[in-house]
Amino acid sequence: MTDLAAIVDKLCQASERDFYNPGTFDWPESVQMEDWFTSPELISIYGMPAYDTMSEQNRRRLSFFEAINFFSLNIHGEKSLVEGLAKRLYAKNTKVVSPYLHHFLDEENKHMMYFGGFCTRYAGKVYPDRKMAFERDYAPGEEDFLFFVKVMIFEEIVDYYNVKMGVDDRLNSVARFINMMHHKDEARHLVFGRKVVTELFAQHSPTWSALTLQSVRDYINGYLEATWKEYYNPAVYKDAGLADVCKDAGLADVYDLQKAAIAHPSSKAHRKKVSGSCVAFLLKNGILLEEPSL
Ligand SMILES: [Fe+2]
Ligand SMILES: [Fe+2]
Repeated sequence: MTDLAAIVDKLCQASERDFYNPGTFDWPESVQMEDWFTSPELISIYGMPAYDTMSEQNRRRLSFFEAINFFSLNIHGEKSLVEGLAKRLYAKNTKVVSPYLHHFLDEENKHMMYFGGFCTRYAGKVYPDRKMAFERDYAPGEEDFLFFVKVMIFEEIVDYYNVKMGVDDRLNSVARFINMMHHKDEARHLVFGRKVVTELFAQHSPTWSALTLQSVRDYINGYLEATWKEYYNPAVYKDAGLADVCKDAGLADVYDLQKAAIAHPSSKAHRKKVSGSCVAFLLKNGILLEEPSL
């Protein structure tokens, strides 16, 4: 049995052991807006003057819409993940991994039931997807590699938040449970993601031209930037009623707040810390040659 086949086998067994039914989850009728829904330190404007001037009550309200945004971006990431995984089931080159792709698909579908259940029940909406996809041509193996490297980056960043919030006693119990449940499944997906990414890179990158390699690296940097941008959502700031906070901070509107939040040194430090392990992995395996500016 190859290394990859052995990992696939172990992960399948673990998924079968942890199998669960989201249909049995007991959703409370409503949630208290006075609760925390996102750990304060993980709120997108934490550490900024605008955040410092807010009342505790308004911070908690903001934490609710930040959670709706976090859950929404999980849904959109998982929708394209499910689409990409389904496309790869029983393809020529996925014989070894297909048994696990079934579990991966099953688990991502269940995650969306939790994330979507929370957003639609308590906020009455899911924030729309703001990522753009462009049609393009690929070198052999490039499309598969980019798909799995995107999955890995997306899941590793999300997992940092899940790990922190899954054990944060300050959080509303449903929000905390969803983070904890997600991390449990993701721990397996992350092992799989790193393994597949290294295998695909080792297999295909030697056949790519210097130009293709460069465009793969540019694409990864662009994806990291786009992924992070979604954590700073002007619609969240609007829903949380931050118009006055913007004015007091000398900002024109919530779009200005988004720009200021992305550019703030504490946010940059946060992105660097959260992406640290994933970026180190990409550098160590020669997938990236330079640290991306986040
Ligand atoms: Fe997920
Ligand atoms: Fe996942």
